[in-house]
Amino acid sequence: MSEESTATANIGVVGLAVMGSNLARNLASREGNTVAVFNRSRGRTDTLVQEHPEAGFVPAYSYEDFAASLTTPRTAIIMVQAGKGTDAVIEELLRVFEPGDIIMDGGNANFQDTIAREARIRETGIHFVGTGISGGEEGALNGPSIMPGGSVESYKTLGPILESIAARAEDGAPCVTHIGTDGAGHFVKMVHNGIEYADMQLIAEAYDLIRRGTGKTPAEIADVFAQWNTGELSSYLIEITAEVLRQVDERTGKPLVDVILDQAGAKGTGAWTVQNALDLGVPVTGIAEATFARSLSSSGEQRAAAQGLAGPTPTPVDDPDAFIADVAQALFASKIIAYSQGFDEIVAGAAKYGWDIDKGEIAKIWRAGCIIRAQFLNTITDEYKKNPDLPALLLAPYFREHLESAQDAWRRVVVTAAQNGIPAPAFSSSLAYYDGLRSERLPAALVQGQRDFFGAHTYRRVDAEGSFHTLWSGDRSEVAQDPSWHSRSSPETPVGSGSPGPTGVSALPDAACSPPARASPRSRNRIGHPVRGSRVPDVRSGLGNSPDPSSGTGTSRTRCPTGGEPGWGARGVGGAA
Ligand SMILES: NC(=O)c1ccc[n+]([C@@H]2O[C@H](COP(=O)([O-])OP(=O)(O)OC[C@H]3O[C@@H](n4cnc5c(N)ncnc54)[C@H](OP(=O)(O)O)[C@@H]3O)[C@@H](O)[C@H]2O)c1
Repeated sequence: MSEESTATANIGVVGLAVMGSNLARNLASREGNTVAVFNRSRGRTDTLVQEHPEAGFVPAYSYEDFAASLTTPRTAIIMVQAGKGTDAVIEELLRVFEPGDIIMDGGNANFQDTIAREARIRETGIHFVGTGISGGEEGALNGPSIMPGGSVESYKTLGPILESIAARAEDGAPCVTHIGTDGAGHFVKMVHNGIEYADMQLIAEAYDLIRRGTGKTPAEIADVFAQWNTGELSSYLIEITAEVLRQVDERTGKPLVDVILDQAGAKGTGAWTVQNALDLGVPVTGIAEATFARSLSSSGEQRAAAQGLAGPTPTPVDDPDAFIADVAQALFASKIIAYSQGFDEIVAGAAKYGWDIDKGEIAKIWRAGCIIRAQFLNTITDEYKKNPDLPALLLAPYFREHLESAQDAWRRVVVTAAQNGIPAPAFSSSLAYYDGLRSERLPAALVQGQRDFFGAHTYRRVDAEGSFHTLWSGDRSEVAQDPSWHSRSSPETPVGSGSPGPTGVSALPDAACSPPARASPRSRNRIGHPVRGSRVPDVRSGLGNSPDPSSGTGTSRTRCPTGGEPGWGARGVGGAA
C-alpha cells in the first residue's frame, strides 16, 4: 500500500455510472470534501474527471491507488450494481483497507445481504455501512434522502459527510439519520420503496377513476392533480403526475399517457417489502396490491385472452365535481393506510432484528430528497413525537380524524369502482383493512374452527384460558390442550373424561402419538381428509376408524404418554393451513 503522505481525499466513490458520478459530484460540491473516484473500467473515471474539472476529483486507476489517495480512517462509498458487483468491490477494498476504515454500500442492496456482509466484515475491524439512498439520479446530484445503517461509531465519521450532501427539508434539517445497526438502513429504504409503490398505485387508481367516471381528458385531470398539490395531498408524486398527464406525445399529438404501454415494470423492492411483511406477519395490503397490480398489468397474454369477459360499461357519474372530491378523500385515506402499514413493518423488522428505530426521525428524513416526499410526513413526525408508542400510525388523532371524516366518500368511491367495473385494488383493500381493523369480531373465528376441523390446529375461547380442540370425528365434545405438553408441541388432552389427573385423560399408545396422522397418499383424498373406509386412525381426536381400543383408536379419550412423540398438536396433522 502507498504511503499516506500522498493521501488528499477525505472520501472516495467506487462505481461511476449515473448514481456514483452524481453522488461524487454532490460530495465534491460541499465545502471541505476532496473526493477520490474509481471505476472498474477506466473510461467512466476519465469522462467524469474531464467533464467536471471544477470538482477537483482525485482519480484512481487501481484499488491500491484509491486506498492511497484517502486520508485515514479511509471512507469509501460503493455505488455499483447491487449483488455480485457489490461483493466484488468489497473484496478488493478489504484487500487494501485497514481496521478502522469505513466501507459504505449506497446501492440498492437486500438488507439480509447487508446484515451478512456487516457481520463478516466486522471481524476484520473494518466498518461496513449499508445505506439506503433515495431520490434517483437527480437526488444523488442535488441532495438525496439517506438512510445509513452500520455501527454508531462509523456514523461519527460518516454522519457529517452524509449530512453535507443530503437533501434539506423546509426547516433546513438534513434528510439523514443513523437508522440502526447493520441492515437497518437498507431495510427502511426497502419499506420506503414499498410505500412508494402503494402511493403510485393509489394515484394511478385515482386518475383512472376520474377518467372513466367523468370522461375528463388527461390534461383536465392534470389540473385536478395540480389543484390537489396545493392541499393536504401535496407531494412530489402528485406534482409529477400532473406533469405526466399534461404531456403530449410529439409523434401522435395524443396525450403521452395514452401511447405508453400499460405494463408497469418493477425492480424488486416492492416484492421484497411484501415478502418480508409476510415473514413478519404484518399486513401491508396497500403495498401488496400495488405490487400485484404491476404484475397483473404485465400479464400481457392473459389480459389479451381475457378481453371480452363480461362486465359493466362505466357510466359517467352524475356530479363530476362531487366525485372528484370523493376520490381525493379516498386517496388521502388510502395513503394513510399505506403509510401506517409501512411503519408497522418497520416496527416489526426493528423488533426482529434488534434495531432501535425512531419512527418520527424516519418520517423526518423522508420530507425531502426522496420520491415519497410529501407534506404530511411532517404530521407523521409530530404524531410520533407526541406518542412514540402509537399502536398504529392511523390511530394518531390527526390521521384517525381524517380517516373517519373520509370514510363515507371512500366507500362511495369503492362502490362506484365496483359497480362500473373499474379496478381499484389499492383503494378497496385499504378500505377493507380499515374495516377489518375496527371490527369488534372477525370471521377469523370461523377460520380457526375450520383449521381445527381438518388439522386439529386448536383454537382459543373468548371465555376461558388455554387452547381447545373439538373431537370433530368423534362425539364432538371439546378437549383442552394440556398446558404441560404445550411447550413440547404436544396434542390436546380431553376434558372431563374421568381419571387420571385434573384433565382426566388416559394414555394413548405410542403408535398413535407420533407423526401418525400422516396417512399414506392413497388413504387421503386431495384435500388431506382420510378416505372413507381406509383404516387410518384419526389421531386428531384420538379417535379412529378402528373399533379396537387396544390400537388407541377406539372411543375412549386418550393421551400420549409423557415420553411420546406427539408432533401432531397445534402444528401437526392434516391440512397445512
Ligand atoms: N437510489 C436510487 O434511486 C437509485 C437509482 C438508481 C440506482 N440505484 C442503485 O445505485 C447503484 C448504482 O446504480 P447505477 O445505476 O449508477 O449503476 P448500475 O448500472 O447499477 O451499475 C453500473 C456500475 O457498477 C459497476 N460494476 C458492475 N459490476 C461490477 C463489478 N463486478 N466490479 C466492479 N464494478 C462493477 C460498473 O462498472 P463498469 O463501468 O466497469 O461496468 C458501473 O460503475 C445500484 O446499486 C443501484 O441499484 C439507486
